[in-house]
Amino acid sequence: MADLTNMTIPRHVALILDGNGRWAKKRGLPRTMGHKEGCKTVEKTVEVAARLGIQYLTVYGFSTENWKRSAEEVGALMQLFRFYMVRLLKIASENNVRVKMIGDRRRFDQDIIDGIGRLERETKDNTGLTFVIAVNYGGRDEILRAAAKLAADIKAGKLDEAQLSEETFASYLDTAGMPDPDLLIRTSGEIRLSNYLLWQLAYTEIYVTDTLWPDFDQEELEKAILQYNKRERRFGGAR
Ligand code: IPE
Ligand code: IPE
Ligand code: MG
Repeated sequence: MADLTNMTIPRHVALILDGNGRWAKKRGLPRTMGHKEGCKTVEKTVEVAARLGIQYLTVYGFSTENWKRSAEEVGALMQLFRFYMVRLLKIASENNVRVKMIGDRRRFDQDIIDGIGRLERETKDNTGLTFVIAVNYGGRDEILRAAAKLAADIKAGKLDEAQLSEETFASYLDTAGMPDPDLLIRTSGEIRLSNYLLWQLAYTEIYVTDTLWPDFDQEELEKAILQYNKRERRFGGAR
């Protein structure tokens, strides 16, 4: 295991958990088995992140584009959400974790919407890791929804257009109140953002590993943190 003594632990880690399908295919299993295994990895990663002292962990669970997949796969993913929302309630209370969902939840079935609300309500006073799950999430969709709310507030006279700043705009995003991610990890080797946190990732350090998501573990997370510590974050400045 990597030695993280004297290492800066990123305050906010964002994750694009990719490769569930390929993990299953390699084993001759249906894609949905990859998602099932991937959920177990999410659970373990939440526990590890909480232990390492990461304050925010944001995972991409389902994108606004993932509805394009077969009805069978989308249905299986919805069933997994239903199951894991209940499990998460237990894991969150055992690890003092606060759960929050970002994305447009209105497109889900009512029982899932209710489940999300319950999970957020019942964990809101936990003081450890904030675990954020992006579901029916798209960066562009989030920015559009924020712009619409902002326009409505300007129209209603609640907000003065002349006062508009990056901070004000960010307060209309689903991630309002959260710091921007310091480190983005994407598994399974793909080097793209896939519409994830487009506003928030402006200056995030990016780490890509070939490991498929179901095989991701503590050692992999520690490797990413070690790599993060070697980066020089300049934020546009010069030395
Ligand atoms: C990530 O794994 C999980 C979701 C997008 C829900 P994929 O299902 O994208 O796996 P690959 O990329 O096909 O291997
Ligand atoms: C991104 O993965 C979405 C999630 C991890 C939920 P995808 O597998 O959907 O992304 P693309 O299609 O490879 O860009
Ligand atoms: Mg994928």
